[in-house]
Amino acid sequence: MAEPGRRRILITGATSAIGSALAELYARPGVTLYLHGRNQAMLADVAARCRALSAEVVTQGLDVREFAALSTWLTSLGALDLAILNAGMNIHVSSSGALEPWDDVDALLDVNLKSAIAAVHALLPAMRARRAGQIALLSSLAGYFGLPVTPTYSASKAGLKAYGEALRGLLAAEGIKVNVIMPGYVKSAMCDAMPGPKPFLWAPERAARAIVRGLDRNQARISFPFPLNFGTWWLAVLPAALSTRILRWLGYGA
Ligand SMILES: NC(=O)c1ccc[n+]([C@@H]2O[C@H](COP(=O)([O-])OP(=O)(O)OC[C@H]3O[C@@H](n4cnc5c(N)ncnc54)[C@H](OP(=O)(O)O)[C@@H]3O)[C@@H](O)[C@H]2O)c1
Repeated sequence: MAEPGRRRILITGATSAIGSALAELYARPGVTLYLHGRNQAMLADVAARCRALSAEVVTQGLDVREFAALSTWLTSLGALDLAILNAGMNIHVSSSGALEPWDDVDALLDVNLKSAIAAVHALLPAMRARRAGQIALLSSLAGYFGLPVTPTYSASKAGLKAYGEALRGLLAAEGIKVNVIMPGYVKSAMCDAMPGPKPFLWAPERAARAIVRGLDRNQARISFPFPLNFGTWWLAVLPAALSTRILRWLGYGA
């Protein structure tokens, strides 16, 4: 049973970069943080930093690909005030242009897309019963127009963007907020492993501040940084053949 007055916030993928920076920003007295990630040492570290900021912290170490376990855990939490579905991974085509191995594609779609949708299914009934709550989905600027070197990642983030936009329309009248977050390049292990130029790279702490601000204002789309957001938005608006050419000129061709 939720303690009256406490703010209860879930962050999946809270062990590093964006997720851990968000956890620390939300950590304060009166807040219970449900922090998730597989790496137990990193999870314990983030949890300790958040407890030092006087938040109550509960940790969970499951793999989000275990949909049944994920669903059981999330259902057991009851009505949350805010759920940030941030866990994600990236893969890319080989330098010779070979597609990503199928097992990796399967894992990525599970982690980036299906686990987030599974989480929404588990979290929503309690939010609906209370007619309150907020769900934030971590998409990416790569969701505007597919990058040639990361076709599956781009597809997963475009899928999550569309899902979040649809949910926002579906749930607004019930008092439930849904936000799609579309970061550009943010320093992290995942970002480091990605090929291609990384202009306007932000630190995770800066990205987390932009996300918290956007969530407080209930922005439908929280996308940053401005120049890259504007440029990638245009890629989706321009004729696709021109956008593909622009990406090649900018060094994002395969
Ligand atoms: N960094 C960027 O440039 C960028 C840009 C746009 C969007 N994003 C999105 O932002 C989110 C956070 O990324 P990040 O940059 O902070 O990357 P990161 O440091 O690699 O963090 C990814 C998080 O996801 C968790 N995760 C991955 N696979 C998991 C699995 N199978 N089960 C449970 N947890 C799993 C990881 O935790 P464990 O390994 O401990 O399980 C980790 O906490 C992702 O959704 C990413 O796609 C990032």
